[in-house]
Amino acid sequence: MDYKRAKNYLALRGQSHLLEYYDELSEEQRVQLLNDIQNANFSVLRNINKPYNLVRKKIKPANVVSLADVARRRHEYESVGMRMLEQNKVGAVLLAGGMGTRLGFDKPKGMFNVGETRFVSIFELLMQNINDVVEVTGRHFPLFIMTSFQNDAETRKFFEDNNYFGYPHDKVHFFMQNVEPTCDFNGKVYLAEKWRISFSPNGNGGWYSSLINAGYNRILDSEGVEWLNVFGVDNVLQRICDPAFIGATVMSGSRCGAKVVCKTDPTERVGLLCQSGGKPHIVEYFEMPEKLQNKRERDGQLTFRYGITLNYLFNVYDLNATLAGKLPYHIAKKAIPHIENGKKVSPEDLCGYKFETLVVDMVKLMGTCLGFEVERENEFAPIKNKTGKDSVETARMLLKKNGVKL
Ligand code: UTP
Repeated sequence: MDYKRAKNYLALRGQSHLLEYYDELSEEQRVQLLNDIQNANFSVLRNINKPYNLVRKKIKPANVVSLADVARRRHEYESVGMRMLEQNKVGAVLLAGGMGTRLGFDKPKGMFNVGETRFVSIFELLMQNINDVVEVTGRHFPLFIMTSFQNDAETRKFFEDNNYFGYPHDKVHFFMQNVEPTCDFNGKVYLAEKWRISFSPNGNGGWYSSLINAGYNRILDSEGVEWLNVFGVDNVLQRICDPAFIGATVMSGSRCGAKVVCKTDPTERVGLLCQSGGKPHIVEYFEMPEKLQNKRERDGQLTFRYGITLNYLFNVYDLNATLAGKLPYHIAKKAIPHIENGKKVSPEDLCGYKFETLVVDMVKLMGTCLGFEVERENEFAPIKNKTGKDSVETARMLLKKNGVKL
């Protein structure tokens, strides 16, 4: 795209300000800016005028295999899951493209040191959990790691420097997720530099399309992978490629499975696995009407009690149906560094929007989902914040309870 075309193109979209500093730029910087303008998906901006996704549908509790059910059928589930792993039918996907702003760490979140007397990163803890299952099955499954343009190089280097934590190098496949432009509250796209549009990772819902864009369907096909266990970087206690979870999901005939934990109190800030119109539906904590949030069964248990843990199992064949671009965009208010009056500013207050697609919407698209309850004390230690709830402090406590030396 040349300058003249860019000028018209932006004028039509109300974004002419992006060329404000064009005259000051070097030739190289001009090329960069014109490229950014050509590549930015401006249509995403339409989402800022859409009303927020509040729950209006009638929701019911989800279909969940409870801890008691799992205990009763563990042997059966595990033997099916083990067989799937031994036959190379399962792979894993680590979602590590997030910015981890709440943790306030300037490197990829997985590099954060959770240790007290030694250095032990989040990545190391997750890889240890993976190596545990490999020890039992004797098989290394393909591990795909999603990064973003901001943390890709550092993440790859960290894995290399740590010899992939003992995992075979040729089984680890990195791919970068796509990005979307950021904008202010009036929908004006931000510049990150005078010659660069401000882009931000497009949320964790884009993992499958990004994996396919990276050409990794070759590996899925050649290795015969039928299921992918998708998990977030935050939860340092989660079991990955857990045979019982795999077995239960496959045996249920569902297109996906979600590991869930029982909520500790009605106001806990966790998304809830529910169903609506016979299909799985994940309701964010802020979307849940108060009446339903507090509703209890006769035995005193919360009716809507199963919180998601960002550990899912997806059937690869059915995932292809989610590629048709049906995932809705969610807007998130964020503090976004940008160029203002010719200077770089890093506001502390929320100043604009980022656009994200979410993995929870993929669960809805799949049409069927089995909730699989896990013991939260043993499997749920998310690191979102530095202190307080879901923090480094709470995760350390739970890790130690589970015998991990820090
Ligand atoms: P979070 O919702 O906690 O977002 O991500 P975040 O960006 O990591 O953290 P905050 O909100 O800025 O503090 C949940 C999981 O989804 C991944 C994260 O890496 C984490 O594993 N994620 C999130 C992506 O891979 N890409 C994204 O664009 C967003």
